[in-house]
Amino acid sequence: MEDADAFIAGLPKAELHIHIEGSLEPELTMALAARNGVALRFASIAELRAAYSFSSLQDFLDLYYEGMRVLLHEQDFYDLATAYLKKAASQNVRHAEIFFDPQGHTDRGVPFKTMIDGLWRALKDAERAYGMTTALILCFLRHLDEASAQRTLDEALPWRDHFIGVGLDSSEKDQPPSKFERVFARARGLGLKAVAHAGEEGPPDYVRQALDLLKVERIDHGVRALEDPALVRRLVHERIPLTVCPLSNVRLRVVPDIAAHPLRRMLRDGLMATINSDDPAYFGGYMNENFSAARFDRDEIVTLARNGFLAAFCDDGTKRRYLSELDAYGLSRR
Ligand code: HPA
Ligand code: ZN
Repeated sequence: MEDADAFIAGLPKAELHIHIEGSLEPELTMALAARNGVALRFASIAELRAAYSFSSLQDFLDLYYEGMRVLLHEQDFYDLATAYLKKAASQNVRHAEIFFDPQGHTDRGVPFKTMIDGLWRALKDAERAYGMTTALILCFLRHLDEASAQRTLDEALPWRDHFIGVGLDSSEKDQPPSKFERVFARARGLGLKAVAHAGEEGPPDYVRQALDLLKVERIDHGVRALEDPALVRRLVHERIPLTVCPLSNVRLRVVPDIAAHPLRRMLRDGLMATINSDDPAYFGGYMNENFSAARFDRDEIVTLARNGFLAAFCDDGTKRRYLSELDAYGLSRR
């Protein structure tokens, strides 16, 4: 029998939790800084990479926002997304739903159009080149106020057909989902899907708020939901997918180490957990590395990949095609 890493590498996968700005590798950061004349406080790629040691979500976010300052032109966003999609395709990611943070760019004076045109062109080119499917999810930054989120949604409306949903990310502590109830209601009224980061650093109650107030269809992270047995029962009963990111959770100290990660327990409890990379350039790995990290057995690996396709927002025909691909792959390697 082939080893687990080879099995994971060939496994058809869906990625549902990836921040495109978090796929900015140090090499591209330095290249774009030079191309655009942006001054960085790091003199070399090695120096920048050495800064990738985080004590918390906020500690990471400070560097994440600093890094994205090199993104100025349409081509920069194209290059960023193209690099991610090439890597994802090489790892047999068949479907990717990609978060982007408009306020991280528009607040620096980069027009919404510049960003979305570059991302969109990259997605369409990758779909043709790799035969994969892709989608964008617009995330609101939760450390900013609701008015800013509403303005961002206004600005995005001319490109309504370029994104399938809205999400909520950035600093979780003291930033409850309730702050964004109205903007999420408006987005859902426009036919957009809703997801939110909750229960990464924030308490189980934020997961509840995301479900009850934002009416999300998936929870991003959600690991702290395990502290609340009634909430776990609800997530199981309602089959709410959790987009879990093991290496991110280790790097941001949500869990002490990979051996302590509760993913296996999540599966045993009947939660619909999926595996994702979050910010792969910063956390030490893309999809394959995240699947490999926790040393799952074959059945667990296939279940996690199946959950990814089941939880995806693609149409039923596409979903069935990917699930058949996955079944054929699993059977051929028994
Ligand atoms: N959590 C919250 N916000 C984020 C993250 C994350 O892991 N990555 C990028 N923005
Ligand atoms: Zn995330």
